[in-house]
Amino acid sequence: MAHAELDRLQACLNSALDTLRKEMNDSQLPPLSQHSSVEHPLDDPNFLPSARLFEARRLSLACMGELKNLIQSPLDRCFEDKLSTYGIVCIDMLIHTGIVDYLADVPNPSQGVPVAELAAKLELDSKKIIPILRCSAANGWVRETRDSSFALNRCSRILIKGQPGWKLVALPGFMTLVETVSHWVTESEWKLSRSPLQTAFQIAYKTPLSAFSWLIERPKLFIHVAGHFQVFGDTSTPSVIADYPWTQLETPVIVDCGGGQGGLVSAILDAHPSFEVIVQDMEDMVAVTGSIMQERRPIQIESGVLKVEAHDLFQPQPRIGNEYSFILRHIMHDWPDEEASQATILSHLARALGPKSKILIIDIIVVPNVDATATTTINSLSHERADYIIPSHFGSASKIISGSSMHMMAMFNSYERSMNEWEKLVRVSGLRITNVYPLRAQASIIECALDS
Ligand SMILES: C[S@@+](CC[C@H](N)C(=O)[O-])C[C@H]1O[C@@H](n2cnc3c(N)ncnc32)[C@H](O)[C@@H]1O
Repeated sequence: MAHAELDRLQACLNSALDTLRKEMNDSQLPPLSQHSSVEHPLDDPNFLPSARLFEARRLSLACMGELKNLIQSPLDRCFEDKLSTYGIVCIDMLIHTGIVDYLADVPNPSQGVPVAELAAKLELDSKKIIPILRCSAANGWVRETRDSSFALNRCSRILIKGQPGWKLVALPGFMTLVETVSHWVTESEWKLSRSPLQTAFQIAYKTPLSAFSWLIERPKLFIHVAGHFQVFGDTSTPSVIADYPWTQLETPVIVDCGGGQGGLVSAILDAHPSFEVIVQDMEDMVAVTGSIMQERRPIQIESGVLKVEAHDLFQPQPRIGNEYSFILRHIMHDWPDEEASQATILSHLARALGPKSKILIIDIIVVPNVDATATTTINSLSHERADYIIPSHFGSASKIISGSSMHMMAMFNSYERSMNEWEKLVRVSGLRITNVYPLRAQASIIECALDS
């Protein structure tokens, strides 16, 4: 009997994995292993895969997700999704308890440490550690090497103190925020509001303030969250540098609006030292960024090649004319349409542009996950032309995007935008899209200029 969907998905997965293997061989990358406790080059956020490797990986993940949806019992999936909340808590506990750091520091990290030892050294209850570590192991974060002995694997390395995953520990109150979304959307007095001041965030955190203003009042948390921003931004930095034609930019100065800790402008300066760069952000952020830059790049600060200045996105842009192009990375998704467009952010920038200036919006472009085939990608990877059934946005391989959209909604009444929504936003702000650059990351670059 023909099992059409199963057969096509299996064929698609095989073809994607064959491409992945070939691209890894061509790039002279070592084999992947979940049994290794050593980082693989692909695990390094700064590693830029070839375009084919990036697509093969995304397509493999999409196929595996679709296969899971196809063969798993719906009720089991329902249980699994509901219980997956504990998976989030387990990642945070691996960090908070010090388990990951301890496992990383033992003389032979791949051998595994008995839970009794972890309990004694970290002053924890071994009865509680076992379910936490087994839940983490089921999610691929650690390995159970013998009954009740656990070892670091290559994935848990990203959670070691100072590593990017460690910086992503959830904001206090995050679970309350998640829980509040349903009440906000279905029964609260703000259920139809589009204001960034009437969201699940204000309900959950019992504040009238916007999320950014609330954070400014809590400097320690603000620095912690700025670390989140930087980690999220860093996921696209190598591709932003490699895949945008920077040398064709006709303006000598690049202004990164809401540029956070300055990671992107630093990477631009390293790759293209002929530019001058300016990081703009809120006053409190600029104080942090200024000292980071002073420490890391004193010569460029001194010479004025790199400037850090306070500027509010909701005020007229002081850098005006043909000298300047502007970057907005992960800024627009923080704001609902009215705040983002004609009323404020983009319009202020549009008024500052010269004819040669560009605005580079670096953000996610949502592709509705309709039941179409992701044909272009699949056919570009494979010689066999086949009728595969991967949704157009790679199905479950787009979970970061759909999750981010939910988070933007809960925090700011905003969302990740589709191409139609980007076009509308740009047009009403007096701009036009001159090009779109897909990245080897979740985000793309939407290049805009004045609409003459
Ligand atoms: C999601 S982060 C993006 C950071 C950076 N662009 C990146 O890609 O890493 C949003 C940034 O917007 C800044 N921001 C928020 N409100 C602002 C405002 N009114 N004026 C200027 N910057 C603002 C925040 O301080 C933060 O650095």
